[in-house]
Amino acid sequence: MSRLIVVSNRVASTQKGNPAAGGLAIGVLDALKETGGVWFGWSGEITGEAAGQTQAPVIERQGNVTYATVGLSRRDYDQYYRGFSNATLWPTFHYRNDLSRYDRQEYAGYRRVNAMLARQLQALLEPDDIIWVHDYHLLPFAQCLRELGVKNPVGFFLHIPFPAPEVLRSVPPHEELVKAMCSYDVVGFQTEADRQAFVDYVERGHCHGSVDDAGVLHAWSRFLKVAAYPIGIYPDAIAQVAEQYTDRKPVRSLRDGMHGRKLIMSVDRLDYSKGLVERFQAFERLLLNAPDWHGRVSLVQVAPPTRSDVQTYQRIRQTLEGEAGRINGRFAQLNWTPIQYLNRKYERNLLMALFRQAHVGYVTPLRDGMNLVAKEYVAAQNPQDPGVLVLSQFAGAAGQLPGALVVNPFDLAQMAEALERALSMPLAERQARYTDMMALLRENNLSVWRDTFLADLRHVATASSATEKAVRRVDAQMLRSSLER
Ligand code: G6P
Repeated sequence: MSRLIVVSNRVASTQKGNPAAGGLAIGVLDALKETGGVWFGWSGEITGEAAGQTQAPVIERQGNVTYATVGLSRRDYDQYYRGFSNATLWPTFHYRNDLSRYDRQEYAGYRRVNAMLARQLQALLEPDDIIWVHDYHLLPFAQCLRELGVKNPVGFFLHIPFPAPEVLRSVPPHEELVKAMCSYDVVGFQTEADRQAFVDYVERGHCHGSVDDAGVLHAWSRFLKVAAYPIGIYPDAIAQVAEQYTDRKPVRSLRDGMHGRKLIMSVDRLDYSKGLVERFQAFERLLLNAPDWHGRVSLVQVAPPTRSDVQTYQRIRQTLEGEAGRINGRFAQLNWTPIQYLNRKYERNLLMALFRQAHVGYVTPLRDGMNLVAKEYVAAQNPQDPGVLVLSQFAGAAGQLPGALVVNPFDLAQMAEALERALSMPLAERQARYTDMMALLRENNLSVWRDTFLADLRHVATASSATEKAVRRVDAQMLRSSLER
């Protein structure tokens, strides 16, 4: 079996500074632990090198995963990570062009870092390796590898939404980016809607691309497979740790501190795409509409800060602190704080046990690729007395968790009603919804995501190179015969 090389900006276990992980690191780590392989990416460190330069990767082995990580110079970090990736692509791909800004120098830095990372990876490659690249930081990575002559199969998975063409077009180099994405052999999205947005761009733009019934896209003389591969979790493993950690001290303190009140729980990186302000305001609406819940329900929001050197993230933090303070000031009693807002990170296993205590999982992003927290919340429930998931229609997970109460996060009144319904839902209905969702989570677990993607990558890489050779043969024949005429 060929070796699997995973490439992503964020690499789970060797990161310095302990950032809030996010779905990518969690999903990839669990998926890679089983197959084994190499995980190549940024070490999380900023070095004193010149822009576009870095030392050879540091190699570290843990179990059957080999980590190969490189540092970034300050300029590369600023332009590639903080700039084009997180101040241009992230907001635009989450439909927030109002927060997006474009800087030509940052885009040049983004391409420079992709080229540099490709050079660093090339030195580690063996001919049989298959390469699986993750997320928006690395849209041009395969193109950089191809320019270096790398022939290995290269697939790409986008963890975040892919925007509708009109939204994407607000990023000035949109066409270059989509063309670069067509250098991959497989391009995977979280949902059918994301896949469709990509295909719409390619078919209706100036690229004269087309996609056939098997999902093979032909554009810019390349053949690639485009499909949706919704990322999953391992629900039974989560159920097990949630139960095991139930008696840990922080979980006991939370339980004891609730004094029999109902608990609504949310966990997100502190990101403007997560709809935290709207979420607090909808909870406030519940308290306004239904005074009998005063003193009987609390919202615990865990929101570890993330990307705090990007201005938009500093603003959302301030706004949210203001909102939590205002709502608490308005409703709190001497022995009851309506919103407990915690700007800190908890160990993942502990979070699963905290989810198990929560009567409502409140997951309402304004846009999200998948949102693994929604899936984890369901998996962590006690089957005898499960809680209810209130979920945004704009999370990829909404298409996969039909037992959730699905809400529009821009409709505060609807969210408040859903919270009330969730808090009062009878046991039989909660159990039925939980059982349906658990069955689907098992059916579409993390191995299914990984194995389907990798099977397509292996298959398409062989087929497309054969097709391209055939096309080249036809082109060459046509050229020859036209010269002979
Ligand atoms: C999201 C992205 C990931 C990213 C994570 C954490 O889940 O899809 O690519 O790693 O957020 O963000 P950070 O910028 O800290 O890596």
